[in-house]
Amino acid sequence: MRAMDDLADVVDFYRHFAQQEAKGESRTFELWAAGVADDPEVLALLEQLPSAKRQPNLVFGAARWHRAVTPSGYADPGALRETLLTRWPQVRETILARSTQTNEVARCATLLPVLGGLEGPLALLEVGASAGLCLHPDRWSYRYLDDAGAQVARVDPSSGPSPVVLDCTVRGPAAIPPSLPEVVWRGGIDLNPLDLSVPDTARWLETLVWPEHEDRRARLAAACRVVADAPVDITRGDLLADLDAVVDRARSQAPDATLVLFHSAVIAYLDDAGRRQWQQLAHDVVARVRAAGGRAHWVSNEGASVLPDVTATATCAGEGSDFCLGLDGSAVGWTHGHGRRLTVC
Ligand SMILES: C[S@@+](CC[C@H](N)C(=O)[O-])C[C@H]1O[C@@H](n2cnc3c(N)ncnc32)[C@H](O)[C@@H]1O
Repeated sequence: MRAMDDLADVVDFYRHFAQQEAKGESRTFELWAAGVADDPEVLALLEQLPSAKRQPNLVFGAARWHRAVTPSGYADPGALRETLLTRWPQVRETILARSTQTNEVARCATLLPVLGGLEGPLALLEVGASAGLCLHPDRWSYRYLDDAGAQVARVDPSSGPSPVVLDCTVRGPAAIPPSLPEVVWRGGIDLNPLDLSVPDTARWLETLVWPEHEDRRARLAAACRVVADAPVDITRGDLLADLDAVVDRARSQAPDATLVLFHSAVIAYLDDAGRRQWQQLAHDVVARVRAAGGRAHWVSNEGASVLPDVTATATCAGEGSDFCLGLDGSAVGWTHGHGRRLTVC
């Protein structure tokens, strides 16, 4: 994440967010972020926050939690500006107490062609698992579409179609598996694991989904219901410090499974040194398991600039998708950050 240490950084960050991240995805957040960048009164409020808490997704999510209406323009009645100025103590408390941990189940659709190509059964270990929705790729239905929107493949759980159907536009030689992988172990690590059995947790996750993304919000709510009967053990900890212990647990509980160490939209939270350390650690874990006679792979799905060594191996262009999908440190292709598209090189 880029730092927002002084006010000039905050202004730049919100302008960049409006133009590069929200534009084309959420008109409300585009207008809100542009509005904040030009509003000294609101910027003075953000300045009271620790720099890591000044990010638009968190500030906007907290404002919506306190009933900022959406969709809306920045200064519309009841929208962002009014909410921040009139309910700042409550919004501030929410910002300080919570964090942005969007859990995007649709990313499973971009991971499935990689998972489906690995020898099963699988032991899935996700770092930065949030509420763990991506640890259940065997619980969703998948529809792969061509650029014209025609279905090219559909995959359902062995028990029948899921109420959660993930649509993904696919380009290039993606090997869509005919059936879903068998998962015999799943576990994760997160700095702050989210417990979906706490009612506020699912509601906060839904609040974090951008205003116009009604399809994502409905899918998230349905996915939370599907996995309510299958809580996953997500260790509270740091992915650099605590990985070895969780790998050992996976190996001892599922010694015959292929260990899949994976993550999406997580490594961006580390600084450059942490990202390099993570890359080495992931390679080391895979090598260690293989040296002991086991099977292991590392699957990464991160923004193009996050793991530059992986991105540098891509042999095709992203064509509008800016997450790089990697297998064991080599790029497989490109994905849309919210799982809407997959381009295999
Ligand atoms: C944007 S969410 C992505 C969640 C999930 N991987 C997905 O694709 O939906 C990033 C998650 O990474 C977690 N995280 C960030 N830094 C971490 C660290 N150093 N160790 C463990 N988890 C971390 C956050 O708490 C958050 O839940």
